[in-house]
Amino acid sequence: MIKIGIFGSGRGSNCRAILQSIRDGRLKARPAVVISDVLDAPILEIARDFVVANSYLPPGHFRTRLEPSVEAQLVEMLQSAEVEVVVLAGFMRVLKEQMLAAFPRRIVNIHPSLLPKFPGLEAWKQALAANEKWTGVTVHYVDEKIDHGDVSAQPNTPVLSDDTPELLHARIQEVEHVLYPEALERVFRKLRGS
Ligand code: GRF
Repeated sequence: MIKIGIFGSGRGSNCRAILQSIRDGRLKARPAVVISDVLDAPILEIARDFVVANSYLPPGHFRTRLEPSVEAQLVEMLQSAEVEVVVLAGFMRVLKEQMLAAFPRRIVNIHPSLLPKFPGLEAWKQALAANEKWTGVTVHYVDEKIDHGDVSAQPNTPVLSDDTPELLHARIQEVEHVLYPEALERVFRKLRGS
């Protein structure tokens, strides 16, 4: 069974969908740990609900990345827990060289747009502002560029004429909760060679 570590900074609805899929046997993986850079993030509560080890990682002084010494500590923590794949689920910091070198093509992210369109924050607002008729979700391997890397899946979500940012984001999240576990199962299958 592939051991995974899930990172997130917020609500954790994708983490919940992943842990539920594992519990139901649809996603074949072992959740080793859930890590958050935000002390009171609901994602840590979700980990506790699913009885998964969880940990707050104080991020250090930078706003958009981890302090290098913290990233080193993180790599060590993941390696000692024998984590094979890191799953980003709303993790709001950019992972740098140490993590990328330790987990090459072993870090997966979900982004709420059809990349390469609308990388960065609040992608659904960007799609609305650009008057897109369709948007969607991308699951991709993480590399040194932000919201970039080989794409694993990209289904579409309609943008409706009376959409608000909240409505559109909620519709995108419904897609995410189905897509992410399915895309991860494909990634894990490839890693298992089956
Ligand atoms: C999702 O919309 C995901 O695409 C983005 O961050 C959000 C996380 O939501 N990377 P949640 O914490 O899983 O509810």
